[in-house]
Amino acid sequence: RKAVVRITTGSRALDELLGGGIETLSITEAFGEFRSGKTQLAHTLCVSTQLPIQMHGGNGKVAYIDTEGTFRPDRIVPIAERFGMDAGAVLDNIIYARAYTYEHQYNLLLGLAAKMSEEPFRLLIVDSVIALFRVDFCGRGELAERQQKLAQMLSRLIKIAEEFNVAVYVTNQVIADPGGGMFISDPKKPAGGHVLAHSATIRLMLRKGKGEQRVCKIYDAPNLPEAEAVFQITPGGITD
Ligand code: GTP
Ligand code: MG
Repeated sequence: RKAVVRITTGSRALDELLGGGIETLSITEAFGEFRSGKTQLAHTLCVSTQLPIQMHGGNGKVAYIDTEGTFRPDRIVPIAERFGMDAGAVLDNIIYARAYTYEHQYNLLLGLAAKMSEEPFRLLIVDSVIALFRVDFCGRGELAERQQKLAQMLSRLIKIAEEFNVAVYVTNQVIADPGGGMFISDPKKPAGGHVLAHSATIRLMLRKGKGEQRVCKIYDAPNLPEAEAVFQITPGGITD
């Protein structure tokens, strides 16, 4: 049995909400409206994963699959400096790939598994996990096939998490939920339906607060207390 490693998010409040940080052997999903901090959290995790274990890191490399073209190496520099790490070395330990179709995204995962068997990785990011599926299967009649392919990809992610003791961090989009009634004022829910709901170990709902402040709530976990964590997005990444 592999021991779970918990990787700091950079915010104590958020770490506490998560029981110490994001966990290896699991899938952590973050969803929320645009600019809610999903990608900024990914950037911070790229750095904190490389911290030694005693500094709440994972002492390992990072794989980043980017479907939106929003990874910014220059953002990594001040975040690395904030944690007292050498930015060049940190960047060298982030394996980056841009995915252009859902098939490409799946094939990148197959290639990564080979890499992970050779080098110590502790984090795999997929930002966003669902965007390409929503583009590649956009017709109503294609939903069943989309969900089947999505399930295939998620089971691949779970396999990677378990085989290599890696934390998987994925981002998701929100969709308006018509809720079956015309008087419900547009409540938002995560995309991906039951397939994603059942694959994610923990689901984080992010929303904007005042200024650079953001709020995180654990979504749909009946066994966990209803709590929120407030964090900030700063040049040095996520903080309290
Ligand atoms: P989408 O991908 O569009 O759905 O949004 P997201 O949830 O990924 O948002 P993202 O993580 O990209 O957050 C963007 C926000 O981060 C911006 O609105 C800024 O407020 C903040 N931000 C980004 N870079 C910096 C930075 O260098 N310094 C500070 N202080 N804030 C930043
Ligand atoms: Mg983003």
